[in-house]
Amino acid sequence: MTDMQVTGATGSEPVHRRAAWWRDAVVYQVYIRSFADGNGDGIGDIAGLRTRLRYLADLGVDAIWVNPWYRSPMVDGGYDVADYRAIDELFGDLDDADALIADCHALGIRVIADIVPNHTSAMHRWFQDALRAAPGSPERARYWFRRGRGLEGELPPNDWRSRFGGSAWTRVNDPDGRPGEWYLHLFDAQQPDLNWENSEVRLEFEAILRFWLDRGIDGLRIDVAHGLIKDPSLPDLGERAASEELQAPPNTIDHPHWDRDELAGIYRRWRQIADEYPGDRMFVAEAWVTSSDRLARYLDDGLLHTAFNFHFLTCKWSAQEFRGAIDTTLNSHSLVGAPPTWVLANHDEPRYVTRMGRSDRIRQAEEHAQSPGVDLALGTRRARAAALLLLALPGSAYVYQGEELGLWDVEPGVGQIQDPAFARTGRTRDGCRIPLPWSGDRAPFAFSQPPVAADDVWLPQPAAWSDLTVSAQLTSQHSMLALYRAALELRRQHPALGDGTLDWCEPHRPGVLEFTRAPGFRCVVNLSGDPIELPAGANVLLSSVAVAGGLLPPDAAAWLEAQRQSPV
Ligand code: GLC
Ligand code: CA
Repeated sequence: MTDMQVTGATGSEPVHRRAAWWRDAVVYQVYIRSFADGNGDGIGDIAGLRTRLRYLADLGVDAIWVNPWYRSPMVDGGYDVADYRAIDELFGDLDDADALIADCHALGIRVIADIVPNHTSAMHRWFQDALRAAPGSPERARYWFRRGRGLEGELPPNDWRSRFGGSAWTRVNDPDGRPGEWYLHLFDAQQPDLNWENSEVRLEFEAILRFWLDRGIDGLRIDVAHGLIKDPSLPDLGERAASEELQAPPNTIDHPHWDRDELAGIYRRWRQIADEYPGDRMFVAEAWVTSSDRLARYLDDGLLHTAFNFHFLTCKWSAQEFRGAIDTTLNSHSLVGAPPTWVLANHDEPRYVTRMGRSDRIRQAEEHAQSPGVDLALGTRRARAAALLLLALPGSAYVYQGEELGLWDVEPGVGQIQDPAFARTGRTRDGCRIPLPWSGDRAPFAFSQPPVAADDVWLPQPAAWSDLTVSAQLTSQHSMLALYRAALELRRQHPALGDGTLDWCEPHRPGVLEFTRAPGFRCVVNLSGDPIELPAGANVLLSSVAVAGGLLPPDAAAWLEAQRQSPV
């Protein structure tokens, strides 16, 4: 339901109020260092983003989510925050952020910032203070410092693994220079985990939320939302340790540091804070959990508004898998009254064109390296179809920058790799973080203003993107960009799209996803190997490939005007 009925001021006339914007928003993810460079140093920044907002407004997105822009040594692309109340000078300053928020609002675009509460940078003042302070001090109590095991404390306190590989513990020297305690880091050693049992930590983040909400931020994406609470007894993982390392989603329940029930206490408080502000401020959680039901727990009454639904990141190109993912998601979310979100890609995952152009379901860059070449034409065809599926589903959708251009992954040469995960795991996420091509026929495709040489852009762009620049695609009706623009426009206009429900069509055709949404909308996606017939006389609103003779080819999708129910 898009409209909520509330009683009008007079108490007699019911008035219709639009449901909160985040229930059906299309959110565009801005990986800021790769979006647009506004000062000619080859790295994207707020100034560059501000010059390209018209593009996003014309694309038709409702909101942008900007990856971390805080002061940071940039060991993990800014997910290592040294000061949560300052913008890193690479990206600009607080005035730029304020101006960006104002510009976006003037264009009707909301702004979601990224908050990183699981860990700080090792360069954060708190961690620096902790290093200088003694074991057992209040400074160390904000993190997880522990004596090591073994006679001399030379072994890590337990067997937890870093998500970037290796032990999750690093030993520090005491102020007198002797080997001392160890500290916990579920990610890079430069990202020490905060101790959320500590009330100072809780209060500090509440103040940081207010700092950004006061500046007019419309929402916050919560990084590693499933990791903040640890079992304070820090028990060993035992057998689970080996299986867990390098696996994306945590695959166990009752885990000592993922997805613990006590997280609800933190997010209940955060929700209260957001609710104190006018204008439907929202949260979206990045929570890697074992099931849709576990995810829905984050969205329970009085907790968070939305959470990323990562099902499509692991779905094969299979109608059965998609349908399973969609049903599971819709069911679990409807139980808590929260809108689902849909995600095909982000800054941590291979791009969809690449993933679908390889053998069916490869997620990890490591497997990429071993797999045969990418069939870009196939990947692109499937990405076009997937876009129409994504945007037709109930709820809110995320579009990762460059997805609307049909970009593919480009893995930089070993000497050029920037991702810290590479050193520990041999995998890099740089392939999906290549700077956007805006115009021109050669790299750097107007990424920087003032212009720079191709080599001066922080990750190299492939020459083959000359056909995929924004300006090239704007002149073609058949481009990926044209498809996204048309889909987003229809989505805005069509009363059936956005929040709500869907009905699967019966009888079910194998390899086909087919559903209707009221009023008058039908989506058909052909994942079978053969052309399929569209309903006789169907009026095609939009399709991912040309539809001729009432047939939808394989790897394609269409939006149709369905027969409306005649009024009773
Ligand atoms: C999230 C981010 C990822 C980052 C990690 C640690 O998974 O999306 O980019 O490396 O958290 O903060
Ligand atoms: Ca710059």
